[in-house]
Amino acid sequence: MPVIAVIGAQWGDEGKGKVVDLLTEKAEMVVRFSGGDNAGHTVINPWGKFALHLVPAGIFSPRAVCLIGNGVVINPGALIDEIELLNRSGVDTSRLFISDRANLIMPYHILFDGLEEKWRGGKAIGTTGKGIGPAFSDKAARLGIRTGDLLDKEALLERLHSILDYKNAILTKVYGVSPLSLDEVYHQYCQYGECLAPYIRETTGMLEEAVNRGELVLLEGAQGALLDPDFGTYPYTTSSSPLAGGGCLGAGIGPSRINAILGVFKAYCTRVGSGPMPTELDDETGHLIRERAQEYGATTGRPRRCGWFDAVAARFSARINGFTAAAITRLDILDTLPRLKLCVGYKLDGKTIDYFPSSVGALDRCQPIYEELPGWQVPTTHIRRYEQLPLQARQYIARLEEFIACPANLVCVGPEREQSILRKPLL
Ligand code: IMP
Repeated sequence: MPVIAVIGAQWGDEGKGKVVDLLTEKAEMVVRFSGGDNAGHTVINPWGKFALHLVPAGIFSPRAVCLIGNGVVINPGALIDEIELLNRSGVDTSRLFISDRANLIMPYHILFDGLEEKWRGGKAIGTTGKGIGPAFSDKAARLGIRTGDLLDKEALLERLHSILDYKNAILTKVYGVSPLSLDEVYHQYCQYGECLAPYIRETTGMLEEAVNRGELVLLEGAQGALLDPDFGTYPYTTSSSPLAGGGCLGAGIGPSRINAILGVFKAYCTRVGSGPMPTELDDETGHLIRERAQEYGATTGRPRRCGWFDAVAARFSARINGFTAAAITRLDILDTLPRLKLCVGYKLDGKTIDYFPSSVGALDRCQPIYEELPGWQVPTTHIRRYEQLPLQARQYIARLEEFIACPANLVCVGPEREQSILRKPLL
């Protein structure tokens, strides 16, 4: 059995949670490898409807071991709340383990996230406000505190003491806000440590053993390729790599051990937060897509910006991830539309281009060049076999496949587990 990375191919919210939940039936291990509780993976299954933020969507399987990898930044309070919520719903979390190398989100990270956004003014990123950027900045600056540090209270106090001195100086002298109390933060994090201690492990060995046993291992991506800090719409991005390559770093697995990379695309585009989105629809169709699909953030409740499928961005995403197959989700949302548009190029400063520019200035000036395709205008939510999809829907998918240069082996026609058309085996 292979190792499969499930990767968000657009700006996040593509339906990765549902895809992982589907694949989990056969998986022995599911690993989250990037982001933090900025992610909101919606899963609807016999236990109910859940918006998972940190716990891998594999938690609903009766046997899959779930790991939160070193590449995730963990808000311990949010994780404890999520574990308790799952337990109250009858979900067993005893197979959940957290890397001892994962960095923690500290109270000052959340404060700085808000303060920095305010400082950006009209150029605010529109972050989720969960402290993600400041936590990853501290990781790179070697000022992070990691889950493993929670297990040694004396060392934790020493490290927190010096870091908090520095953070408090910035809070008071730069931003003019009140400092945080060492005592309070320390005791709070000691409590978190006691709650989480049974879950904290060295996880790379567990992952290696599962791979060596030939088990099906899923690397569960968070966010999407176009939010990657290197390749996304920088600086309007997140702060860790949601790409397949990020899966290697954030889980602790070598690239040679990943067998398949499944790109998850919505049948249209959405984005939350600021930054360029060339195919955004600020009209009736955009509104219709948002309401029909209930495109509101699972983490922040913010309305998502909606637009046509951007095949230029999709091709770029496929290139930087190396997708071996794709899942197209939410096809049913397009059911009522008489005509569909697909962005196949951009007009930039009078010239036609077919690539995704690196600068947000250029992206902001890009006018989409659309190809029009006929809609199918019949419901698809009940369809379970690919051949039964209307011809126009199959033509639409075939055109997407040409751009992403890999087969769309899974097509989703609704949020429920069974509303899925498995065209070819994913494994
Ligand atoms: P941050 O990750 O909270 O710093 O937010 C940076 C940008 O990434 C903002 O535009 C967020 O809306 C976006 N973002 C972060 N996480 C997600 C997600 O899970 N889905 C969609 N957008 C996200």
